[in-house]
Amino acid sequence: MTHKESPVEEISATASKTTDQNGAGKSAQQKFYLPPEELAQNSNIMAYAREKGFASVDELYQWTIQNPQQFWGEMATRFLDWYQPWNHVLDESQAPFYKWFTRATTNIVHNAIERHANGANRDKTALIWESEQGEVRRFTYAEFAAEVNRFANVLKSQGVKRGDIVTVYLSRVPELLFAMHAIVKLGALHSVVYGGFSTDALHSRILDAKSRVVITGDGGWMNNKIVELKKITDAAVDEAGEVVEHVIVVRRTGHDVMIKEGRDVWYHELAAQPGMDEPCATEQMDAEDPMFLLYTSGSTGTPKGLVHSCGGYQVQVATTLSFTFDIKPDDVYWCTADPGWITGHSYIVYGPMILGATQVMYEGAPTYPNPGRWWEIAQKYGVTIIYTAPTAVRSLMRFGDDVPAQYDLSKLRLLGSVGEPINPEAWRWYHRVVGQNRCPIMDTWWQTETGAFMITPNPTTPLKPGSGTKPFLGIEADVLTEEGQPARQSDDGLLVIKRPWPSMLRTIHGDPQRYVDTYWSRLPGLYTAGDSARRDEDGYFWVIGRIDDVIKVSGYRLGTAEVESALVSHPAVAEAAAIGLPHELKGNAIHTFVILRQGYEATDALAEELRKHVGKEMGPIARPEAVNFVPNLPKTRSGKIMRRVLKARSLGLPEGDLSTLEG
Ligand code: PRX
Repeated sequence: MTHKESPVEEISATASKTTDQNGAGKSAQQKFYLPPEELAQNSNIMAYAREKGFASVDELYQWTIQNPQQFWGEMATRFLDWYQPWNHVLDESQAPFYKWFTRATTNIVHNAIERHANGANRDKTALIWESEQGEVRRFTYAEFAAEVNRFANVLKSQGVKRGDIVTVYLSRVPELLFAMHAIVKLGALHSVVYGGFSTDALHSRILDAKSRVVITGDGGWMNNKIVELKKITDAAVDEAGEVVEHVIVVRRTGHDVMIKEGRDVWYHELAAQPGMDEPCATEQMDAEDPMFLLYTSGSTGTPKGLVHSCGGYQVQVATTLSFTFDIKPDDVYWCTADPGWITGHSYIVYGPMILGATQVMYEGAPTYPNPGRWWEIAQKYGVTIIYTAPTAVRSLMRFGDDVPAQYDLSKLRLLGSVGEPINPEAWRWYHRVVGQNRCPIMDTWWQTETGAFMITPNPTTPLKPGSGTKPFLGIEADVLTEEGQPARQSDDGLLVIKRPWPSMLRTIHGDPQRYVDTYWSRLPGLYTAGDSARRDEDGYFWVIGRIDDVIKVSGYRLGTAEVESALVSHPAVAEAAAIGLPHELKGNAIHTFVILRQGYEATDALAEELRKHVGKEMGPIARPEAVNFVPNLPKTRSGKIMRRVLKARSLGLPEGDLSTLEG
């Protein structure tokens, strides 16, 4: 079959079953897309099912939820080495502060790098990095280990030690990976701030983490333009006052940047000093020691520093990657996410390396210098697995079928999607044109909080476009009403996780009560994800979207509160509200409502200035689609902005219960 033919009829002919399920509000007839039999039978997950004496992954799943601790314990030894074993897989005595693999000691850097560098994978390519300009850097596991070792010595020379939190603000370069591993090797925690964020976002994260050391770059390349990382860092560090003592600057662009005497140091100068290639010890960490912070937007106030652990995190990341993306020794895996987000942490920086995989990383924009760039990279390196986001699929789909058709994508065998619901049309295009009807799509639902996949197909799952299908092994999920009752089939409800999982966040940095309140209090004993979802008659999950004040723009997670605070930092703005409205390409776009201070006039020029202001403060992804000037905002009597009323009005929908609206 060529990629131009419609797959649906072909596939339904082999499908075991059809359904008229209404997927995610769409009325299109749904059909199962069956994975190629050979792929399913030879998959890692099927091999494990057979080892356990099960004929199918469904049977295996049932066993894992009846014996979750045995299952996760088996995974912990299957995929990882430990310095010291655990005495309990799970300790629930201080729920919801669950502990996993108690008393065990480990370091993910040993599992992801050092055991490979000292073993059979020594000369295997770990990373192929390509810049926007086409420069290529390759690292074997041994070379990668040497880079991490050197970086760790440099950090040590700047006083970084166990328990410190180091903020990292870099573009998508290999040094970002080296830095993260080096920090963890020393037993310190990284807090990576996405390189597309700007001053405000960086400053608030440095301050909350109280980072004495910040790692940044002179700049990064995106769409053939320099992102001024150092300038942004300077502004953020100045705002953070006395907190930051050292800024380590990685040279990437080579353009002129300010180097502040006594505070800023070039990485390459430190790295060239004597002794930096001496072996640096890898700290033995307790499984429950924190490994990193990752800030994410929540409903209110400042961004939350989610804390992930040294032990459980790596167990679930390795298991999910092996069983979902079926990584085999000769795969060439490519996750297009930025390492600065959880997808990059789990499925670029750590997961593939734990499994000893070869991966590709590309620095720049998918359409630079032309919309075929991604497919060219896939062809050039013989990529076998691509893991990307629906927004990217939608934007590349716009350029038509002919662009991917110019490249040889015959090595691809699996595709993936993450970050937001994928609309069935984009799913089908991805499946037909990129995957040439051959590659199942792993639509993985998870969150910064969950650390790893929670609801996802595997290579044996019959697929429905737009559904993440069913929970991963050992994970029990459900859709409940506000009262905690099972939602009726195909009714919207709250997506919940019914029991702890190894890679779950452990707390919110500096605010354990907020952790309890946000995730474990709405329905006691259950984790509420903040998403609404439905389940269909086959038990498949359909995630609809956020029910809190988080906006997903192109899959990026932004908080209304952060956008609003960026707006009110402009002298013209008295009050502001931000909401997300549907957008064809981005999934959602930010629309804002602004009350001006006296003396300012509502003009198009001012609206444009405010859009730019938010972009400058927070980063280009947060730039609002629209700024609407309004005389007042709908508020509750206690003064809380009712964003859902703004949203309903904007969409021409009923405004719902207004009983708490201010008179
Ligand atoms: O709303 C869900 C959406 O992204 C949220 C988590 O965002 P973040 O913490 O930034 O992590 C993104 C990468 C894991 C979820 O609450 N989401 C993520 N993946 C999917 C999704 N929605 C639907 N389908 C998905 N596959």
